Amino acid sequence: MCGIVGYIGSVDAKEILLKGLEKLEYRGYDSAGIALRNEQGITVIKEKGRIADLRAAVDTAILASTGIGHTRWATHGVPNQTNAHPHQSASSRFTLVHNGVIENYSSLQKQYLQDVSMSSDTDTEVIVQLIETFVAGGMTTEVAFRHTLALLHGSYAIAMLDAEAANTIFVAKNRSPLLIGLGENFNVVASDAMAMLQVTDRYVELHDQEVVIVRQDTIDIMTLDGAKIARDPYVAELDMSDIEKGTYPHFMLKEIDEQPGVIRKIIQMYENEQGELSVDAAIVNACKEADRLYIIAAGTSYHAGLIGKHYFEKIAGIPVEVHISSEFGYNMPLLSEKPLFLFITQSGETADSRQVLVKMKALGHPTITLTNVPGSTLSREADHTLLLHAGPEIAVASTKAYTAQVAVLAIVADVVAQGRGKAVDFELKKELAIVANAIQTLVDSKEELAQIAHEFLAVSRNAFFIGRSLDFYVSLEGALKVKEISYIQAEGFAGGELKHGTIALIEQGTPVVALATQQAVSPNIRGNVKEVVARGAIPCILSMEGLEEEGDRFVLPRVHELLAPLVAVIPMQLISYYAALQKGCDVDKPRNLAKSVTVE
Ligand code: AGP
Repeated sequence: MCGIVGYIGSVDAKEILLKGLEKLEYRGYDSAGIALRNEQGITVIKEKGRIADLRAAVDTAILASTGIGHTRWATHGVPNQTNAHPHQSASSRFTLVHNGVIENYSSLQKQYLQDVSMSSDTDTEVIVQLIETFVAGGMTTEVAFRHTLALLHGSYAIAMLDAEAANTIFVAKNRSPLLIGLGENFNVVASDAMAMLQVTDRYVELHDQEVVIVRQDTIDIMTLDGAKIARDPYVAELDMSDIEKGTYPHFMLKEIDEQPGVIRKIIQMYENEQGELSVDAAIVNACKEADRLYIIAAGTSYHAGLIGKHYFEKIAGIPVEVHISSEFGYNMPLLSEKPLFLFITQSGETADSRQVLVKMKALGHPTITLTNVPGSTLSREADHTLLLHAGPEIAVASTKAYTAQVAVLAIVADVVAQGRGKAVDFELKKELAIVANAIQTLVDSKEELAQIAHEFLAVSRNAFFIGRSLDFYVSLEGALKVKEISYIQAEGFAGGELKHGTIALIEQGTPVVALATQQAVSPNIRGNVKEVVARGAIPCILSMEGLEEEGDRFVLPRVHELLAPLVAVIPMQLISYYAALQKGCDVDKPRNLAKSVTVE
């Protein structure tokens, strides 16, 4: 979602800001803007649409060594140029960008800004107008900044320029990610390190309700009361090649192709010196002590969580509930006596999941975050972190993070099972290595999968993905992939459930993609396929080697049945990719979506 960059130094800021915003494009946005500060004052340029539109609107003659920039994903007010950030105060003295949602903006407006005429529909404008009002009342900018922040309810990452304070960017953070990057003779501000990796790999992390006065050579971190805070920087372990497409046309395809390597890396990272799979003992103990595991997640991570439930119950013998985070926090079920919460989140920033984490911590329950982003909010705030080691995932549609989540969940379930003295009748490490090879075979079958996308999806208005048991969970993920990047109305369904209502939607030519990787239910899903075919559906059966039958459209290389989701999801990802491509959709940046969903 919204992204922030800032630069204060000695060279021209324009290109650094624009390049930084381009690196944040993956987060999802619908408008963008920058503010440049030089001796002539502050110039704001903002545009609806892509960074390319903003770039075209920027006057190349302006030279400025201080600036802030923003990509906006609309929450309050439609996506247009007026609502795009930066926003300015009535006199134009203060210019501000904001990521997050201010819940009490309308009451603050009524209380303090009756006489100020607002020029946008955003909650953000209230912040900048409040600061100007308090400065007009006699406060210094820094005091007014902190005073305003203390009045805000909600989430924010903020960067602000004051036309009368040369060489300063005012920065603050609460429940929205923001980092300060350190350089020689310059400093930067960024929603994530990727944006500013072009100029520095040294970053200082900010905590909630902290303010930073950023100057060219110094940064002063403080609380909202002005008490100084000291914090050491860290080096971001990111490589430019991790965040570039290289020769790939899309990040999504690159990330799909990276999956065999990701599985191998996970095996390596979760191996001890004896070459056995191993997980932090504190996490294993937390699992052993719990009487029930509650998995909390959203979207693709939720789908991985459903498979995690299967693993923890079948392999480790621990009862599990899986919940959608946006529902759980406001409609909480009765909890067991000794619950353990596992948050699955690729980004580690999902606001829906975080609100549950905050509530469960307040209740004193133990928490673990499974994430791809070390140092992310949910990682820092949970008691323990499990890392995915998948490398940055840039495409909005999650692919390698999902397979990494499933693989790590299998490993944790396996290690916990051993810790509980439960016999596991297969060697997971060996089976995961077989999976890595199988995924390689699948990513090498692109032509055939592109053909399937062409035959079944590219010309369809809708599609069904069906499966039973673990295949049902993969069907949910397959349908989500198709929906989010190719905009085809796709539904993932439990094969047996269709006839209880939804089969009414099957008509002549409706594509039904069916998975048959689970021996016990393979005859049943084939029965369900017959039911839809009898009503005009065109079936596309993807079966596991050993379970294949004549007429199946694609046969997946054989892997251990429990790990079948790791291979069955690959054709889903690739047919979604090719369907989106064939329909001319923007694969990496699908409409209306954001990579990191930082508002509830
Ligand atoms: C997946 O393709 C989506 N982009 C989305 O469902 C995503 O999985 C969801 O928003 C959760 O994100 P998280 O894993 O970063 O918490």
